[in-house]
Amino acid sequence: MIGSIFLLLSGEHPTLPYAEVRGILRSEGMRYAEVGRGDQVLLLNPEEGLEGLLRSRAALVMEGGPLLGVAGRSMESISRTCNGIDWGFIEGRTFGVRATRVKRYWEAADLQALEKAIGDAVPRSLGARVNLTAPEVWIRAAVSGESVYIFSLGFRTDRGAFVKRRPKTRPYFHPGVLEPKVSRVFVNLSAARPRDVLLDPFCGTGGFLIEAAMMGMKAVGVDIDLRMVRGAIKNTKFYGLDCDVVHGDGTAGPVRGADGIATDPPYGRGASTGGERVWDLIRGLTRMAREVLRSGGRICFASPSEIEPSSIAEGEGLRVLEEHTMRVHKSLTRAIVVAESA
Ligand SMILES: C[S@@+](CC[C@H](N)C(=O)[O-])C[C@H]1O[C@@H](n2cnc3c(N)ncnc32)[C@H](O)[C@@H]1O
Repeated sequence: MIGSIFLLLSGEHPTLPYAEVRGILRSEGMRYAEVGRGDQVLLLNPEEGLEGLLRSRAALVMEGGPLLGVAGRSMESISRTCNGIDWGFIEGRTFGVRATRVKRYWEAADLQALEKAIGDAVPRSLGARVNLTAPEVWIRAAVSGESVYIFSLGFRTDRGAFVKRRPKTRPYFHPGVLEPKVSRVFVNLSAARPRDVLLDPFCGTGGFLIEAAMMGMKAVGVDIDLRMVRGAIKNTKFYGLDCDVVHGDGTAGPVRGADGIATDPPYGRGASTGGERVWDLIRGLTRMAREVLRSGGRICFASPSEIEPSSIAEGEGLRVLEEHTMRVHKSLTRAIVVAESA
């Protein structure tokens, strides 16, 4: 184990960012201890390699790095904490300090004054020089809840990359596809590992397949609509990815054996259910998952929360680990269920 790592999480959802980190760490078999959490904040004591892993995989982590100290919400507390930090790691290097506020915590604080107080605490004897444009080391402070977390920036995730591959920029587009960031989270919640078989039995235009294949998984898709099958092949090839896409009923298990399943079936509000009721569809999906998932393999799927998808999954013999909710519009709340095969 190394020291504690501070993670600044996205504020887009209250529970998914924490769950995504857990899913990624499980997938890679990385051991860790959670040593604290706050609003958009997670503190972990992990093994070596956590930062690179999150940088390349996470959709809902913004940045992170070695934790230097945690102060209370006062300039005195910040100065006291900074005086206790061993600043030796920036000896002879250039550094900059940037402070951010999560949501509206400690609005009265002057972030520039806070940055200055931290910078002033670095002993002059170290010969470190301030550079606010391209320093060798960024010292970051994040205000969340009652605390000010001070850390050295180790990585930032490339959030722009998700925007660049938004569904409308692909050769085949169909409404109802989730944004790449959300698709990535589903795949990460399935805890599939690179080189694992990741199945999306309702693959549509291939959004989940793209995210899985980009993380090195062997992505396999199924769709009942031939236009979607062709579209998904076109879309995955567009990114230079090699995925298997099969035409068929995703609940009938045309694919034998999967290490993880991530999928977003129809919600039964349009014509795309192929006439089936959504309840039956989810029962079929979870029954199929039970059959094709390896022992300990996980499925992450979405459905309207009103049909109580967790109880359907349990009824089919899966162990439900998590259920997250996401409001889509006034009359539709999406439940995102993560369940494990025995
Ligand atoms: C919400 S869309 C999936 C969107 C997908 N995540 C994407 O990236 O485009 C649901 C898909 O399920 C397909 N579908 C409906 N019933 C199906 C079934 N029984 N088996 C396989 N696919 C089915 C529809 O054709 C549709 O493409």
